[in-house]
Amino acid sequence: MFMDRRLFAILLGTTIACMLGCQSSTDSTTSSQDSSPPKIVEWGERESLQKERAESARSEMFAKLTERLSQALTTVGPVGAITVCQQAAPEIAVDVSRDGVKIGRTSFHLRNQKNVAPTWAAGFVEWKIREPVFVSLEQERLGALFPIRLLDNCVMCHGKADEVGPEVLAAIQKSYPEDRATGFSVGDLRGYFWVEVE
Ligand code: HEC
Repeated sequence: MFMDRRLFAILLGTTIACMLGCQSSTDSTTSSQDSSPPKIVEWGERESLQKERAESARSEMFAKLTERLSQALTTVGPVGAITVCQQAAPEIAVDVSRDGVKIGRTSFHLRNQKNVAPTWAAGFVEWKIREPVFVSLEQERLGALFPIRLLDNCVMCHGKADEVGPEVLAAIQKSYPEDRATGFSVGDLRGYFWVEVE
């Protein structure tokens, strides 16, 4: 049977999500834990509106994070900015999560273990999918996953050994002893915004 590549990717992601879901349904702090696997979206008016809301939540969170990060870098420098990121990132996620929208960040190489992907997204994340993904979730919700790539101003905290200064590295390791989020280059896939829309 002929199956197009996109459909295949979604099915494979779904299968992996199911497998991972069995093992790691624990600590996703803000996402809903869907027990059914995600389904392919049947696009209608409702779904298109949900997609727009997901995209605007992603843009809002990106803009707020960027603003807080550049503010912190100019005022307290990279070491101080780590603490700002630690506090600000979850606060911004809560702030942007409103009116039936939930948002968070995740990765296949996590810095903060609390940023584990929601069950429905876990397979796509492990698979390092490079394009935005949209799926149907339980109760007519839409799940969206948006790739995040590494920019120039990220390497001081996520780059290779010679780009992350020793003080920055020490501060990261102090706050995140299990950090797996260094060694990236500009343009690399760093992680994802996940969004759930009612
Ligand atoms: C000043 C250091 C610093 C800079 C610069 C920085 N980050 Fe981070 N990043 C962090 C910290 C600290 C966390 C953990 C935040 C938390 O506790 O949720 C983090 C977490 C993340 C996460 C969430 C997944 C995870 O691993 O926990 C993503 C995605 C991410 N950063 C991407 C980026 C991108 C893209 C840039 C550049 C635009 C960037 N970061 C710049 C320090 C930094």
